[in-house]
Amino acid sequence: MAEVVVVENELAAGALIAASIRDLIAQKPDAVLGLATGSTPLSVYRALAASLVSDPLDVSRVRGFALDEYVGLPAGHPESYRAVITREVVEPLGLTAENIHVPNGDLASIETAGDDYERAIVEAGGVDVQILGIGRTGHLGFNEPGSSFASTTRIKTLTEKTREDNARFFDSPDDVPMHCITQGLGTILRAKHLVLLAFGDAKADAIAAAVEGAVTASQPGSAIQFHPQVTVVVDEAAASKLTNLAYYKHAWAHKPAWQGL
Ligand code: PGA
Repeated sequence: MAEVVVVENELAAGALIAASIRDLIAQKPDAVLGLATGSTPLSVYRALAASLVSDPLDVSRVRGFALDEYVGLPAGHPESYRAVITREVVEPLGLTAENIHVPNGDLASIETAGDDYERAIVEAGGVDVQILGIGRTGHLGFNEPGSSFASTTRIKTLTEKTREDNARFFDSPDDVPMHCITQGLGTILRAKHLVLLAFGDAKADAIAAAVEGAVTASQPGSAIQFHPQVTVVVDEAAASKLTNLAYYKHAWAHKPAWQGL
């Protein structure tokens, strides 16, 4: 079962997960982080950046793999996930840019980009902790409904709902790319620890389906039920449709201190 942790707000979620990532890096200075984009993980990156200022830790050997990238955006486009990861993660945390990988959405090499990315993750020894958001469609990464639980990094066509959701980052909705390259659900499931974050009412259905719903490719988030170590961090609004919410709170309140996250 996923461990569900209900926090007061995004700041509390950020502090909790940033502390756990710090512990990981302290134990393993070349830890491999799985990096999500979107609004949801920002509180984690900000809390981690702030803690590295107040209590420095050597992060120069930390490695990272982003979940996904748009296909066909011009190099250097400010909304490419390469640019977002540089702006929101690499620079504020002071990571070594060459250690941070993003799937290559360049059309010229798109046919081999998925396999190349899978190889790079394997060569790095796999992802230690994978940060995840979830879309209103239930997607993890850009694995839209119907994605195979065994899928690896490949090209996907975005749903119109996801393109609408992401239009806020572009000048016009038509500018949101139609295609993306995303780690597959099978890739994500190979990470050692999954941390799925969600905040607000709009995510309540997707969280309930992921944590408690039927395991089905129609709800890509439900893939987490196959994974042995999942931490779901939600606010009350995103948790509001969970049937067993009282039990999750009870379990968290009585969690043995030695267990960690
Ligand atoms: P969001 O996106 O964090 O911007 O809500 C999550 C997602 O689409 O996976």
